[in-house]
Amino acid sequence: MSKALEGVRILDFTHVQSGPTCTQLLAWFGADVIKVERAGEGDATRGQLRDIPGVDSLYFTMLNHNKRSITLDTKKPKGKQVLDTLIKSCDVLVENFAPGAMERMGITWSHIQDLNPRMIVASVKGFGPGKYADCKVYENVAQCAGGAASTTGFEDGPPVVTGAQIGDSGTGLHLALGIVAALYQRTHSGRGQRVLAPMQDAVLNLCRVKMRDQQRLERTGTLHEYPQYPDGKFGDAVPRAGNASGGGQPGSILRCKGWETDPNAYIYFITQAAVWPAVCKVIGEEGWIDDEAYATPAARLLHLKPIFARIEQWTMTKDKFEAMEILNRYDIPCGPILSMKEIAADESLRQSGTIVEVDHPTRGKYLTVGNPIKMSDSPTEVTRAPLLGEHTEEVLRQLGYGTDDLAMLRDEKVI
Ligand code: COA
Repeated sequence: MSKALEGVRILDFTHVQSGPTCTQLLAWFGADVIKVERAGEGDATRGQLRDIPGVDSLYFTMLNHNKRSITLDTKKPKGKQVLDTLIKSCDVLVENFAPGAMERMGITWSHIQDLNPRMIVASVKGFGPGKYADCKVYENVAQCAGGAASTTGFEDGPPVVTGAQIGDSGTGLHLALGIVAALYQRTHSGRGQRVLAPMQDAVLNLCRVKMRDQQRLERTGTLHEYPQYPDGKFGDAVPRAGNASGGGQPGSILRCKGWETDPNAYIYFITQAAVWPAVCKVIGEEGWIDDEAYATPAARLLHLKPIFARIEQWTMTKDKFEAMEILNRYDIPCGPILSMKEIAADESLRQSGTIVEVDHPTRGKYLTVGNPIKMSDSPTEVTRAPLLGEHTEEVLRQLGYGTDDLAMLRDEKVI
């Protein structure tokens, strides 16, 4: 079966997480992704957070599946020539170097345009144009600058970053969408273009509802679904909302049986308006169905704390899976708090290919997260990440380099 991006060749000049997560997705959609790495060391993540000495880390292997790796010193003139040849034969160049690094290598937009006017040049940077444009950025900086940290955490605590890598992997996703849109536009314009996904902007896009709340707060002075309502005070900026729901249906994380010893014995419970009578029946508070203080969503907003405290008395009598089963019988939206251990063992996620076991020549078998996007005509087969420079010779021969050229480039430490 063919793949969605078959025939598309990507010059993958990315490192760490944000860029690699983008090009990995493109590889899963069928693109030929050639990762260009510095000779000797390669992508810094190969050696970061290692669990087996001398073996490519899980950090690297889980972000670079289905790619080919070549080593190339792009700062040497002959290395630059190889890079130019790659630019001529690829459709997309993806990079996430610090601001200015590409220009310092001499790989400017006009240089690329001269070589290949059809090339799409896609970049992740920490910030877009503006006062921080020259700053280096990692995940948590983006979470802080994009509005996630100031709105995450409990009302009486400091800002908190989330475990979801919304700055890195989130931006990689945004960039991938920009690239496929640019590839589509090229089918009728015939031209390449630049695609930029700044990490601050990508995080802000994912924090859209908090910008919504900022404006609601300025207009009305309050946010009814936040834990600060009705007793607490609001300042002039969106506060941290604890585990309150970000939408129009109030929700909370509640303890389940075993919470005293199991840090994940919790369930997320949503008191969706449509199933309020069912919620009352399940917890044994049928009187609340018609009680004026509880009967309407607006009335309930004044009593969310006691309502969730009463529901929690019920959830604490069940383990999270039992509670889930009972609540689902009544169509009450809820979800167990799953640990990474539980997720890794999840049969459905394995069957759907979202959790995959991959074999690697030096590390052996390891678990990875496969393609979360499922396409009926473009199935994903996850293959292992490449060793450093594993495909240097194969790729250079495809570009027309012969045995003598390869020997010379090796001697001069260009590859
Ligand atoms: N051959 C020769 N030189 C190479 C090379 C190669 N194959 N590949 C990279 N380099 C050089 C670059 O030219 C650059 O050199 P210069 O600083 O002399 O211009 C250097 O390696 C490293 O680039 P840089 O991006 O500055 O790496 P860093 O480790 O100092 O910074 C980041 C890392 C992530 C902070 C930075 O790249 C960044 O801010 N990127 C944009 C935002 C981003 O993606 N952040 C998320 C990362 S998950």
